[in-house]
Amino acid sequence: MSNRNFYITTAIDYVNGAPHLGHAYEKVLSDVIARFRRLMGDRVFFLTGVDEHGQKVQQSARARGIDPQQFCDEISQQFRDLCAKLDISNDDFIRTTEPRHKTVVRDLLQKLYDKGEIYKADYKGYYSTRQEQFLQEKDRNPDGAWPEIFGEVTEITESNYFFKLRQYQDWLIEYLKKNEDFIFPRYRQKQVLEFLAEPLNDLCISRPKERLEWGIPLPFDENFVTYVWFDALTNYYTAVTDKLEFWPADIHVIGKDILVPPHAVYWPIMLKAAGIEPPRSILAHGWWSINGSKMSKSTGNFVEPVAFADKYGTDALRYFVIREMSVGQDSDFSQTQFLARYNAELANNLGNLVNRTLNMTNRFAAGAIPAADASTSGDLEKELHSLWEKTRDEVLALNEGFQFHIALERTFAFVTATNAYIEKRAPWKLGKSAAPADQAALRTSLATMAESLRLANTLLYPVMPAATAKINAVLGNKPAENWRDELNWGTTLTGSKVAETAILFPRPTTSDSEKK
Ligand code: MSP
Repeated sequence: MSNRNFYITTAIDYVNGAPHLGHAYEKVLSDVIARFRRLMGDRVFFLTGVDEHGQKVQQSARARGIDPQQFCDEISQQFRDLCAKLDISNDDFIRTTEPRHKTVVRDLLQKLYDKGEIYKADYKGYYSTRQEQFLQEKDRNPDGAWPEIFGEVTEITESNYFFKLRQYQDWLIEYLKKNEDFIFPRYRQKQVLEFLAEPLNDLCISRPKERLEWGIPLPFDENFVTYVWFDALTNYYTAVTDKLEFWPADIHVIGKDILVPPHAVYWPIMLKAAGIEPPRSILAHGWWSINGSKMSKSTGNFVEPVAFADKYGTDALRYFVIREMSVGQDSDFSQTQFLARYNAELANNLGNLVNRTLNMTNRFAAGAIPAADASTSGDLEKELHSLWEKTRDEVLALNEGFQFHIALERTFAFVTATNAYIEKRAPWKLGKSAAPADQAALRTSLATMAESLRLANTLLYPVMPAATAKINAVLGNKPAENWRDELNWGTTLTGSKVAETAILFPRPTTSDSEKK
């Protein structure tokens, strides 16, 4: 057991809308990593939360005619409920309106100000309200227009505070070159370096109160509030100020849209300037589209993760998103594809193995898993044993490298092989014969299928915590203290009493299968 500290975070979600599939995916992915690390013996601290300040929230609250804090309280609760629904094992949930966070942001700003890292200057330029940022000429489209993502762009002159980003540009380039694994997938590190090929501008970290009230006031000038990204990024540090043994963070899990510049440029530089160690790594995942197009609430191309999990089960949703998406790449979510995997992989493949194991153990061994008979273990058993060892070693390595979709594919290939083994051994035929050799072969086949199921199930735990607990319960399996011990082919199930039946993945109703 490593007993290493492992600190993992998700992005903190904006509370200007309800949670969607993208938010759900990021939490599930981080949860799978967190659960896997715990199994590998790490002391994990897992943080998620919400980003509550800024213009968008101020505007959304105004549109509803309510106080921004009340608005944040309401929507934040939806994100907490999402975590509970998805079985997310986070240790903390941070809100940027909490006093503990405001204190850390103000202390950090004051420290940087005292060190001369922040200065005041007049700034004239184009400002995007939607993105809450000043734009530069290079941000324009080739035809001179501003890209749509910026919304309305206006020219303004303002006095503001600036953080000296530029003076750390060379340091960051060196840091990235020295730490090739800083960003996963690796090719994104190149994107960051490309971004850094151009001189950086210092970062405007204030907003005048006349324009934006909903933010953390600057400690050295109360006429301004803090730029929302400076505020938001600091959350990762706030949550561990009372347990700094977890700093630096091992991994920040985020979407590819917020890698450059906020996480890969601003954040490491903010920390460096404050004399704090930068995080160890950043994982940038891809984006989900739905039925081939961008998700959008207004067009109805939207998946409500809580409602979806209510309908099909939390573990089925967790399984699907992890199986379908290769971490780092984009993926498409369609109900057809979800149901195809649900039926073929969960209900038929895994579900059948569970049902067959229970049925046959009840039918031929009075519900108690027999011991394998060494004299009857033949080539089929040997093949399955060696496939198991190969599968386990591959899956552990794949999980370490965030290749969870392939890890699941391999684990399910092992389940398929176990079902094929059962077909070949045909315990239902052996059960009809009273010959001692057949009875011995029957016991071996029952023990082998139960053990294979236990092992596959053990590997599936980080992705499907509830279903795997249920499978352990129906097998009468009590997981060992040390996960690595559980992954060895053994005899712990011998004599274990199995349940009569288990309903793990009920068939969705016909109308659901027909719907796209
Ligand atoms: N509040 C900022 C993050 C601050 S982190 C210090 C933010 N919030 S967000 O609500 O817009 O996005 C939260 C996370 O969800 C981001 O990592 C983003 O990439 C992710 N996703 C948003 N839409 C997504 C998809 N369609 N697909 C996958 N993930 C997506 O950005």
